[in-house]
Order: sequence, then structure tokens, then C-alpha cells
Amino acid sequence: MTTIEFLGHAGLALEHDGKLLLCDPWMSPQGAYNASWFQYPAYPKDDLSHLLRPDAVYVSHEHPDHYDPWFLSQLPKDTPMITGRFHKRLIKKKLDELGFETVLELNDYESHEIAPDFVVEVVVPSFNCAPHWFDSCAFIRAGEHNIFNLNDANPALELDKLRARGIDVLLAQASPAIWYPLTYTNYQPDELVRLKAARRESAITSFVTAAQSLEPRLAIPFAGPPCFFDEQLTDHFLSPDSMFPTAPVAAARLRETSNIAAEVLKPGDRLHLDGNGGRVEREPAYADFDYERDRTAYFERHKAEKQPIVRAVLDAIPEAEPGLFDRFRRHLRPLIKRNPFFIARVNMRVLFDVQGPHGGKWVVDFRDVPHEELVYEYGGEDCHYRFEFESRNVEQVLRGEMSWEDLLLSLRFRASRDPDRYNQHLFTLLKMADHAALQGVVTAEVALDTHPEDTFTLEAAGCRYEVQRFCPHAGSDLRDGEIVDGKIVCPGHRWHFDLADGACAESDYTIYCRRLDSDASEDPGKR
Ligand code: FES
Repeated sequence: MTTIEFLGHAGLALEHDGKLLLCDPWMSPQGAYNASWFQYPAYPKDDLSHLLRPDAVYVSHEHPDHYDPWFLSQLPKDTPMITGRFHKRLIKKKLDELGFETVLELNDYESHEIAPDFVVEVVVPSFNCAPHWFDSCAFIRAGEHNIFNLNDANPALELDKLRARGIDVLLAQASPAIWYPLTYTNYQPDELVRLKAARRESAITSFVTAAQSLEPRLAIPFAGPPCFFDEQLTDHFLSPDSMFPTAPVAAARLRETSNIAAEVLKPGDRLHLDGNGGRVEREPAYADFDYERDRTAYFERHKAEKQPIVRAVLDAIPEAEPGLFDRFRRHLRPLIKRNPFFIARVNMRVLFDVQGPHGGKWVVDFRDVPHEELVYEYGGEDCHYRFEFESRNVEQVLRGEMSWEDLLLSLRFRASRDPDRYNQHLFTLLKMADHAALQGVVTAEVALDTHPEDTFTLEAAGCRYEVQRFCPHAGSDLRDGEIVDGKIVCPGHRWHFDLADGACAESDYTIYCRRLDSDASEDPGKR
């Protein structure tokens, strides 16, 4: 017998013939990201004893809504911990620090056997796309059942190969985990509403596209949205135009657009798999709960309990110490100096407006020919990106208590940019802040750039083009893109690439795009 208990957010407890595998159990009463995110809704039982002696735990990646030291520290230290092998080995370091004796960093398609017929195989998304993130997903074989925990992983996967295995249950994210556009101040209110709607739609579409590509017998949307109890952030969750859709919305869209069965689980629900598919045993505590209808009711019911936790976590963050600027400079200068590949692609000044004790306005110079200091006090220079952080949060990053990406995901910062284009290399450099990991990205990007053999032929407005097949952002297949006004629209996150020159309207990327039926000397198609 195989049973999947949903633990909330991206947490799963898979039982098969008496063995237990936990996936991304995020149960902390303090939420995550400095008590910015909380589970929606939370696991309803206080007694977690049935989860505390697993035969293995899979932690997909380092984000604290997946890696929860509060819960993991309650497990026996001889529990095998499974994760992906990333260029930056931060998750391994964290699990080692918790005292786990066996931390298995599995390479792409490498597996761990819990029992002969209960096997976890880790897949690290890096197919035809440079690894600008640390994510993994897990293909789990439990007896006759194939369960694919796609999790937050992006589409850079060999979807055809995975589909061919026959997937019984797919679990995939259907709500965004990103700060854009919520923290950007360069948008008028109506533009912000439009951008949030686009982000919401993109999350739903990603889930539907993944399900349609992988053709499981049953698809389950999960891994979000988070609930924000901090009064500064609450509106992101409660407002009618929230960019965070819930699972029923994504499930309904899948049912409307395909014949694939979709199921919505609530925390505590148990899906019993059998030869005919599955049967859901519902958790009584959430029998009448409706994800969309009950957002406000859930928030009101739990705010008296959660808001003091938010205040306590924020009050416990010490103020920055004197010398913050020197530590900030020592942190970023080596990364800039050692990574000219990234600098050439960022190629602008970025202003860090660090507010609070020992803060200041500091320029990080990513230009090809930078100021010799690289990181220096702002003196009115033109800066195309601007961040506003609290000094004590920057100190947390410099102390190694949280990553830049965790700080960004906390939504406790503001940003603006001019021109209004995403610079993936800037965010990759900040997110990774690690030379080995950045070199991994460089190697992959150079290899993909040097061998553009994976192309396809496209016809648009009477012209034929040879176009790079995989999107450089996160590997979506551009063969599935629509053509709108002379641009190919990526099905992944709807970036627009101009067929005239391959340039992306939303980011610093350019794809290979060559017009086939014109004179080569006039052909602007380039990488
Ligand atoms: S995969 Fe994100 S825009 Fe293409």
C-alpha cells in the first residue's frame, strides 16, 4: 500500500510498505524568511510524532520553505538526508551542521534505495539551460507507482524522457515564489495590477504546461501560496488582485484544458494509491475549508497567534554593527573581480540604499570599465538598478544567517530599475555569491552559446527563421511559443524575443535567431 499525506505547502509524507519518506517538511511555527512567509494553511495537528522516525528525508533545495531546521533538528541524526548536487553546496553544509551523519547529494538521475521497490531519484534541472538556481525534483518509485515531485523546479528538464516512464502522480508548484513585481516602486498602480495578474497567470500556466507535457494520470498543484501575517505584507495575500493563486484555481484550469485528472489536497489529507488511481481520505479539520474563499477568514482566525511571532522574530534581529560598509565591500568586491563574465552581462552601476544604523548609499559598479574601487559611496552617479534594504537585514546576509535570495524572498526591501528590464546575471551573482557556483553557470552558458545546434525552423508573417529551441531563462521549449507582433513569446514566463535580432524585451538575454529566406549580409540574426 502506498499513501501520500500532504503536510502543507510542498511537504509530503510518502509511506510504502511500512517505510516512510518525507519530502520538504516545512512545519516551523515561525514560518520562514524572518517570519515573512507562513504555511497556508498550516498542518492542523500538533502531534508530529508519526513523522519523526522517517526512513529518509528529501530536501529539494535550500529555501527555508523547503529546508526547515526547526523540524529537521527533531529527527534522529542517522536519518539519511537526500538532496541534489549543486555547484554551491550550501544545503549539504546546512544539513551537516544539523548533525546528520548521512547527507546524500545526488547527481542528476542518481537514486537512493529506501527499499528494493521504494526508490528516490533526484533530477536537477539543467537541461539545455544554465543553472541560475538551486532546485531539484524527485522521481519516486513506490512499488507499481511512479510519483514525480516536480516541486518548484523550472522547466529545464528532459520532459519527453520523464513522460515516457509513465507518471501516476505529478505534484507541481502552481503559485509564484518571487518578489517581482511586488517590491518594485517604478510602476504606477494600474501597471502593477497588470503585472501581478500576468505573474499569477504565468504560475497557473506553468502548472498546466508541466502537466500537459508530462501527462500524469493525476496532477496535484501545491507549494504555495504563502500567507503573510506581517501587517506590512498582508495585502499581498489578502487583496483581490493578489498575484498568488491557490491550488483549486490551477486544478480547475487543468481540467478545463485537458483530460488530465487534477486533485486538490489540504494539509492532513491522505491520498491512497491503488491500481485504479487513488482515493483521498480527507482531514476533518479542513473539511469545510476553501483555499480561495477562506483567505481572509484564515488570516483573521490566526493573526492573534502569528503576529506576536512575527514581532518577536523581527525584534530579535540585532541592529547592524559599525563598519557595515567595509564588510559589504569585502563581501562583493572579490565576486566582482573574479567574475568578468558576469560583469560584462550586468554592465551597470547598482545602488544599494542601506537604511538604518551604519547604513548608507553605496554603489556596486558592475560596468566593464568600473570605478577602481568597485564598491564605493554614492556620489550622484547614474545607477540603473536601485535596492533599498534595512541595514540589519544586510548584516544578516553578511553574517551568513540568510542569503541575498532569502532576503529578496522575504519581500522586505524595495527596488526600482531603469530601463525596466530584468537582469538575470545580477540576481544570479547575488543569489549565489559563491565563485564555484558562478563558474558552473559560466561553463554551462559558454557551452550552450558555443553549440547552438538545438534549433528549429519557424514561419511567421511569410518569413522563415532558424530559432534557438530552449529559452535561456529556464529552458522552456520555444517551439511551443506563440508569435505576437514579430516576437516569439516563451511559454515558460512569457518573455518576448524579437525575431529580428533575438533580443528579449524583458531581460538581458538574446536568443539565436536567423532569418532563412533573406540575403545573409542583411540578416541581423545573432546570438
Ligand atoms: S523559461 Fe522563463 S521566460 Fe522562458
